[in-house]
Amino acid sequence: MNIIVTGGAGFIGSNFVFHMLKAHPDYRIICLDKLTYAGNLSTLEPVMDNPNFRFVKADICDKEAVDKLFEEEKPDIVVNFAAESHVDRSIENPQIFLETNIIGTSVLMDACRKYGIKRYHQVSTDEVYGDLPLDRPDLFFTEETPIHTSSPYSSSKAGADLLVLAYHRTYGLPVSLSRCSNNYGPYHFPEKLIPLMIIRALHDESLPVYGDGMNVRDWLYVEDHCKAIDLIIHEGKVGEVYNVGGHNEMANIDIVRLILKELNKPESLITYVTDRKGHDRRYAIDPTKIHNDLGWLPETKFADGIVKTIKWYLDNEAWWQPIISGEYQNYYEKMYGDK
Ligand SMILES: NC(=O)c1ccc[n+]([C@@H]2O[C@H](COP(=O)([O-])OP(=O)(O)OC[C@H]3O[C@@H](n4cnc5c(N)ncnc54)[C@H](O)[C@@H]3O)[C@@H](O)[C@H]2O)c1
Repeated sequence: MNIIVTGGAGFIGSNFVFHMLKAHPDYRIICLDKLTYAGNLSTLEPVMDNPNFRFVKADICDKEAVDKLFEEEKPDIVVNFAAESHVDRSIENPQIFLETNIIGTSVLMDACRKYGIKRYHQVSTDEVYGDLPLDRPDLFFTEETPIHTSSPYSSSKAGADLLVLAYHRTYGLPVSLSRCSNNYGPYHFPEKLIPLMIIRALHDESLPVYGDGMNVRDWLYVEDHCKAIDLIIHEGKVGEVYNVGGHNEMANIDIVRLILKELNKPESLITYVTDRKGHDRRYAIDPTKIHNDLGWLPETKFADGIVKTIKWYLDNEAWWQPIISGEYQNYYEKMYGDK
């Protein structure tokens, strides 16, 4: 089986590449990634010499490059993680989100149509459902919840989702979609809440918390997300959407306090800052469908996953230090520029 994984130099994509190479030693995994600020080739260093792995630096919006790769590799499955993924950046500059997240998705699916494919899988997010009120803990997002987006990021992801379902209906493309809650774990880019707070706390720097810190997110350990996608591409039904989440709701401020406690740092580091524009209050996934239909359940409890994650950041300063200094962006040129 040949699988193209786009965005495999990012947080979840790289964890998925590692998972697939380990879980399916007879598969060939081809990672296509543009290496934006969020893509880090050093993350993939441990698998660069694996004969079942190939890295290709390309933009999913570049039709010629995508077609060339399809011609060379004749993939059976494409899993699309490639995206602009940071809500704050989408508020500053929506354009690039529309290009990568919507146009890029259509370029990939057009190649799938042209060359034939067993499955195109779109990695999406629970943010396409908008948010839930804090005072209605009985409400959850199901696959039937209407799309109702808040940010340019979630709107671009929702646009891509609709396009994926339209390609299925119009052209019969064998697609599937997963909409996952917030992930955490190794290789998470230090601009996102959990790694940001860990790294700043380690440096005794102030921890900026948006608004009152009461915004609730539903956290899932990244490995559990990767296992869910592995299951969906093999056993999930074509044309279906699967919500992925572990019923693990936490207020941002509680996560920050937990990190400070684990690192033995004072809560006086917490600084409340002006809230993000249009900040969603609560996300909460109902994962009944993927549990009932495919038998998926999260394996890592948050209490264990967060300790593992903090330990990973303590043990892997060599990974995040070049990122926070900006040096990692020269890595590709240094290692692979003349290859
Ligand atoms: N992080 C989460 O909590 C979360 C939750 C649910 C869904 N998702 C979705 O999962 C996917 C991966 O998220 P992530 O957190 O790993 O993101 P990330 O920002 O860490 O990684 C994105 C990767 O995509 C690459 N990329 C960006 N634009 C590209 C382009 N035009 N062509 C090729 N590659 C490009 C980047 O270089 C990077 O390696 C995204 O689609 C995101 O919407 C993320």
